[in-house]
Amino acid sequence: MKYKIAALVGSLRKDSFNKKVAENLIRLAPDSLEMEIVEIGQLPHYNEDLDNDNPPSEWVAFREKIKKYDGVFLFTPEYNRSISGVLKNALDVASRPYGQSVWDGKPSAVASASLSPLAASIANHTVRQSLVFLNMPVMQQPEIYIGSAHELFDENGKVLEKSQGFFKQVIDAYADWVKKNRG
Ligand code: FNR
Repeated sequence: MKYKIAALVGSLRKDSFNKKVAENLIRLAPDSLEMEIVEIGQLPHYNEDLDNDNPPSEWVAFREKIKKYDGVFLFTPEYNRSISGVLKNALDVASRPYGQSVWDGKPSAVASASLSPLAASIANHTVRQSLVFLNMPVMQQPEIYIGSAHELFDENGKVLEKSQGFFKQVIDAYADWVKKNRG
């Protein structure tokens, strides 16, 4: 069985460390996972008024796309001790219209990366709060706090040898988590 996983990156920055974490986990993923980054920067801000009669085409396409995935892996920066607006907006958009959330039941995991040794851990737990409400079973261990992220990758964006083992442990644990939750 092969599981399709959406990777959502909460930073739109070209050289985003969160994106590098996602790309390295994609590279190290076992055969049972087919993980790819799904873009979220194009989504207009959520406005419930628009959902009543004429939802933006970007919302409709994103909701349809997310439906096709078996799980979701979120990568979050920390902005002012919370999560980025772009990531929260994506979670909100695909949670609506009321009763039609496309997140429901999808096994999830959260990684956070920051230049700070605190590793965006507050944002990490803020994302978890929404995932619990959205009924997306969230992997508990290993916790994925990537601190001092500027010291972890080579010039091609590949994770350095010293952290490769942890990255592999993370993606293998997530593969087990998806299997456990999706059967
Ligand atoms: C930050 N940054 C930051 N870092 C942190 O550890 N805690 C924080 O609260 C904040 N706050 C914050 C606010 C805003 C508006 C920006 C733009 C940045 C720094 C942040 O960790 C750094 O820019 C990372 O590189 C962001 O992640 P990406 O873009 O590398 O994935």
